[in-house]
Amino acid sequence: MRGVWVVASSAVLLLSACTPAAPEIPAPSQSAVESPSPTPSPTFDSTLWSIDEADSIWVVADKLRPLAPLDYVPDDLIALEVPHAYDARLRMSAAAMYTKMYEAAAAEGIDLVAQSTYRSYNTQVGVYNHYVATIGQTRADLQSARPGHSEHQTGLSVDIRAKDGKCTINQCFADHPAGIWLAENAWKWGFHLRYPDGKTDITGYMFEPWHYRYVGKGLAAQLHETPNITLEEYFGLPAAPDYAG
Ligand code: DAL
Ligand code: ZN
Repeated sequence: MRGVWVVASSAVLLLSACTPAAPEIPAPSQSAVESPSPTPSPTFDSTLWSIDEADSIWVVADKLRPLAPLDYVPDDLIALEVPHAYDARLRMSAAAMYTKMYEAAAAEGIDLVAQSTYRSYNTQVGVYNHYVATIGQTRADLQSARPGHSEHQTGLSVDIRAKDGKCTINQCFADHPAGIWLAENAWKWGFHLRYPDGKTDITGYMFEPWHYRYVGKGLAAQLHETPNITLEEYFGLPAAPDYAG
């Protein structure tokens, strides 16, 4: 699927500016700042955090696993203070680690921009509907989650582009220096490539080399041990190529 343009990507840019403000409340269960030196552990506890609770750092949302409640809003969203597009917010721990990752990349000459971060339920309504109107529902469902099913709504996902704007929300980002850097290094800061190449039958979505999901450095290090592994595979969840109804 390399080289497929996402023609409706402008909707993400425009509509993500409409998200409401949220209070800045620290997450009770996570450290806000982690040091980027994770070490995979043979004794890693894969049941440490819930994969079902919307406010869990390990929550897995897909076409068969809607967020509960469907209109969930994180309570610890904070604004990113590194280059971003429009209104850019992530949950506190994800924002802290994204910032560290941004700085590490910049130190290596890789300039990242957070293109799309937290998206509310209502924002996702607009994004999804725009995709459907632009490219039809079948293709839309391969690129955009329906409202209540997007991990952007958890405040733990970020679409990342390069400062030069090349291959923004495009599969050629996988071959851009920024995309290559992220694929090799994002795990060190707790980010995981959520929709890998060749896993559409499991995730339900096409390859998105720009979409990173914060899971914390411990789980990210575990996931990094198996190239292109999905959260569904790691946690033994059913493949979710389609919605149930
Ligand atoms: N593009 C991903 C699947 C989302 O809309 O959440
Ligand atoms: Zn995304």
